[in-house]
Amino acid sequence: MVNRQITLAARPEGLPKESDFDLVEAEVASPGPGEVLVHSQWLSLDPYMRGRMSTARSYAKPTEIGEPMTGQAVGQVAESGDPRFAPGETVVGQLGWQDYAVARGGTLRKVDPALAPPQTALHVLGGTGLTAYFGLLDVGTPKPGDAVVVSAASGAVGQIAGQLAKITGCGPVVGLAGSAEKVADLTGVYGYDVGIDYKRDDVNAALKEACPNGVDVYFDNVGGSLSETIFRRLALGARISVCGQVSQYNRAEPELAPRNLSFLIVFRARMQGFLINDYAHRFPEGLRRLSSWLAEGKLTYREDVTDGLENAPAAFIGMLRGENRGKTLVKLR
Ligand SMILES: NC(=O)c1ccc[n+]([C@@H]2O[C@H](COP(=O)([O-])OP(=O)(O)OC[C@H]3O[C@@H](n4cnc5c(N)ncnc54)[C@H](OP(=O)(O)O)[C@@H]3O)[C@@H](O)[C@H]2O)c1
Repeated sequence: MVNRQITLAARPEGLPKESDFDLVEAEVASPGPGEVLVHSQWLSLDPYMRGRMSTARSYAKPTEIGEPMTGQAVGQVAESGDPRFAPGETVVGQLGWQDYAVARGGTLRKVDPALAPPQTALHVLGGTGLTAYFGLLDVGTPKPGDAVVVSAASGAVGQIAGQLAKITGCGPVVGLAGSAEKVADLTGVYGYDVGIDYKRDDVNAALKEACPNGVDVYFDNVGGSLSETIFRRLALGARISVCGQVSQYNRAEPELAPRNLSFLIVFRARMQGFLINDYAHRFPEGLRRLSSWLAEGKLTYREDVTDGLENAPAAFIGMLRGENRGKTLVKLR
């Protein structure tokens, strides 16, 4: 059997190009004792992968040139050397950009495809849902009535963070996104009270109007000058949950913003970064609560699906350019 893989061909400068990736064929490996061979059906594309393409200091080691790109996927067990997994079962894990992967059984999580479509284990009932859950509720510590602002608000993490703020009883809940269609989704699909198009609107004026008493919780997905504008509108005792800095990922040198960190003093604000992996011991709690909100119809989601592994590089580059409308997924064959 042939395994198609997307490997890293070159370290990108700026926005990645399709030539930074290779499509190669390899033999499908056999699982040893304790290992499982998975035939992947869905691949998740995420901004953190841009960091793995670079050798800059980070929390994880970079992907080497010639190695398959790292990524989470959902698929079915094809062959098992681990008695806890049987062929045909659906699992999710760090399986990479490829059709088949051999993984240690202990790194895989079983998914019940009867409860929700299997690919939801890559977003609302997986990594991005859990990121919104812990990043908003644990790090942002919102209270009912708090004004909450989310950047990249219509993306995979942002669309869930806004809905969790509403479930918590916060308001106004304000989202920032980069196109008219996305801003329409914010209020029309994800239940935000106010949507702001950060590319066209005067963000400072729009925030002043939407949050006249200031911003109590800012869920920061983007960083840079947009965050600098939002810091101007903080409320006393504000919390800033630093989830991501996607506006900086393609820059060789980070932008010289935010320059107004003195507002942390003025507003006695707390700014804290987090990594979702640090919450692994609490994933069962997060998944249980996200699943029940989904079942009760309190949570919704939008997927942006690209067909075929060979199209993953273009979909990934498109996501970094803001072309995704929802969680970026690749349907594998
Ligand atoms: N801390 C953690 O453990 C953790 C875990 C998962 C994800 N994250 C972070 O969460 C953030 C969102 O990830 P996601 O998977 O949900 O991706 P996403 O929001 O679905 O897709 C990325 C979005 O970023 C926005 N963007 C790109 N360049 C931008 C720029 N220069 N300024 C402002 N916005 C820009 C685009 O939306 P617009 O069209 O609206 O600009 C794009 O659609 C990322 O920063 C990611 O690194 C962190």
